[in-house]
Amino acid sequence: MLERMPPIKGASKAKRLRWSAPQNEISWAYMTMLREGNRTCRVYDDINPYVEVYQYRDNLYALFNQNNDGMGDVWMYVLIGPEKAMVIDTACGLGRQRELVEKLIGDMPYIVVNTHLGPDHSFGNIQYDRVYCHEYEVENIKSRVKPGMFDFLFDEDGNNKWLQFDRKDLPEYREYELIGVPDGYIFNLGGDYDVELIWTGGHAAGHAMYLAKKDRLLFAGDDVCSDVIGCGAGPKEGMFHQEYCNIETYRDRLEGLCRRIDQIEYIFPGHFMLNLESRVLLDILDTLNAILEDPENYDYATESRNPMSGAVKHSFHKFVKGFGTVSYSENGVYRAR
Ligand SMILES: [Fe+2]
Repeated sequence: MLERMPPIKGASKAKRLRWSAPQNEISWAYMTMLREGNRTCRVYDDINPYVEVYQYRDNLYALFNQNNDGMGDVWMYVLIGPEKAMVIDTACGLGRQRELVEKLIGDMPYIVVNTHLGPDHSFGNIQYDRVYCHEYEVENIKSRVKPGMFDFLFDEDGNNKWLQFDRKDLPEYREYELIGVPDGYIFNLGGDYDVELIWTGGHAAGHAMYLAKKDRLLFAGDDVCSDVIGCGAGPKEGMFHQEYCNIETYRDRLEGLCRRIDQIEYIFPGHFMLNLESRVLLDILDTLNAILEDPENYDYATESRNPMSGAVKHSFHKFVKGFGTVSYSENGVYRAR
């Protein structure tokens, strides 16, 4: 049962072979309706047949990418400002992503940013010349985005493990510039159209959200998710700034963000349901506080396998009211002191 979900008749050329973990049922039903029935869905077959492009605002495209590994399918975003555009995350990097992005943007210059290191959020970086991220995430992304980064997607016979696609459609590794910026950094897209990087930690040490202030849109990466918000995994060996991968860090950062909730109208996360009302942040904050108060009082526990390392992970889950869950491990609750 772990490896199957009811198939979705999506427009992407790639076909799902198996999952690493079952997907959230409500999110799955939502994605079925969206991918099979949304009237804005378009695939540019002649450029990139693997990406479904949805238009959410006059100036906002959501690009649906199936995850190349067995984890959840992923969104990246193209936001068009008055003079510049912004590409938020670069997904798994399958197909000619850069050409697709430039088709949507036209002649405008654009800025590419990452929310965090995940292979489903930063592997497309190698298609661009320059990418920005939070300063704590630079070394983490560099440790993953490197020659041979796609090898784990294939078995010893060269067959695709999780998603069926043509191997020749993966980009060749190439060097690019990765620039770290601090919390609160402003990217100006022309005139008074500012996008603020907000460091949140939690799911990754340098996990960042991006707030398009004028449109009051928050691009929330993996710290908001209608399936599982994995913001309490704890430190990972060999990675940097791991003291921020826990519930307490994210709680502290989210508490600050919730004080600014009138600046946010809708949320566009990295996976599953999108265009969420911002009040979900308050419900997530309630769950984080409840975990910190009594980590033993979880709703259920799971075991999962990391598709890259194969490591088995034991997680506790606590529900977010009317939404998904927050997951955490024993050493992912409090910040080390
Ligand atoms: Fe992700």
